[in-house]
Amino acid sequence: MAMLELTINGKVVRAEVEPRLQLSDFLRDGQNLTATHVGCEQGVCGACTVLIDGKPARSCISYAVQNQGREITTLEGLNGDPLMQDLQQAFTGQHALQCGYCTPGMLISAHDLISRKGALDEAAIRHEMSGNLCRCTGYMGIVAAIREVGLKHSNGQQMAPNISGNTGFGLGREVPAFDLAAEAEVHTAAAVSLASGPPEPGWARLEQAFSVGQDMEAVWQYFSDPANIAGCFPGARLTAFDGQDIAGSMDVKFGPITASFSGSGRFDLDAARRRGVLQGSGADKRGGSRVKANVSFLLVPGDDGLRTDVKVTVDYLLSGPLAQFGRAGLVREFASRLSRQFADNLNRAMTGGDAGADMDGAGGISIISTTLSIIWAGIRSLFSR
Ligand code: FES
Ligand code: FES
Repeated sequence: MAMLELTINGKVVRAEVEPRLQLSDFLRDGQNLTATHVGCEQGVCGACTVLIDGKPARSCISYAVQNQGREITTLEGLNGDPLMQDLQQAFTGQHALQCGYCTPGMLISAHDLISRKGALDEAAIRHEMSGNLCRCTGYMGIVAAIREVGLKHSNGQQMAPNISGNTGFGLGREVPAFDLAAEAEVHTAAAVSLASGPPEPGWARLEQAFSVGQDMEAVWQYFSDPANIAGCFPGARLTAFDGQDIAGSMDVKFGPITASFSGSGRFDLDAARRRGVLQGSGADKRGGSRVKANVSFLLVPGDDGLRTDVKVTVDYLLSGPLAQFGRAGLVREFASRLSRQFADNLNRAMTGGDAGADMDGAGGISIISTTLSIIWAGIRSLFSR
């Protein structure tokens, strides 16, 4: 057992908890704050969304003990808040709920969205709210309610959708929907932007970095065969490569979600600078999701000359059903896990072991996997010639 002290809805709470107790269970079972719903328990549906230090987060994938000293706000804590009252009324008026299971998470996320961005158009609201799933309503009423309240709280002024100006991960401001910092920090190399300018309007940018325990020449040589890279990438298959054009597929699995993407692309390598660029696109025929991506990578020698830092920048545009998973925190968390898995497999393979690329144990692939499917499927091409 561990001692935990944190603030919940303005009140200091002290409790002894099991180290593996989820924050959502602590709130519901330990504090009787049952507005926090638990749906998927995998960080996908958003039903468990609360505010941690003022930012939306998935309480089902945050251990209670990780929140030592933090301020938690549940839906109960926003009772009487003018913006929340307007949202609740609008949800009722616009028939934005049926079973109501998703509603607390929707309200928390919508409250955060309007607080940050005021009024947005329908497309922007759908995108910003993509981390909250509803199995009943079809979203029409939810979007209408958020739009109505956003306009009211912006004096009728609709802000331009913050899509083209996005930086970092996903659209708009980076919102940490996950609290997996300790895992994310496994990557030792700092991410850098390899792109020459901001992403195209409507596209999002993702930057990742990881280290390989081999010198740069060895890594470059290994990357020069796309089959090697595909072997390290969970779920990826290389189906064609003629030295420039490449085709491949990738199975995506993230909790209950599965998809199979096929794509093709073209890449260019700059051997002198140890960098490359891939432009590719792909689709999941069964699910109807599509992705376009531009991937840039750069190899940098480590300080001791015995390691190599791999820095990757991905600009992507995701459409179709899986676009709902484009929310910043999901993307970041997925990319962190994928990078670590890829780097582990690569290190193992380069030292004579079995790449054994398998994301299942690390939680599978999400949203971005789509993106990254091409993207990283593209990575194999990038590194080859
Ligand atoms: Fe937490 Fe679904 S229950 S995201
Ligand atoms: Fe039932 Fe959204 S109202 S899940």
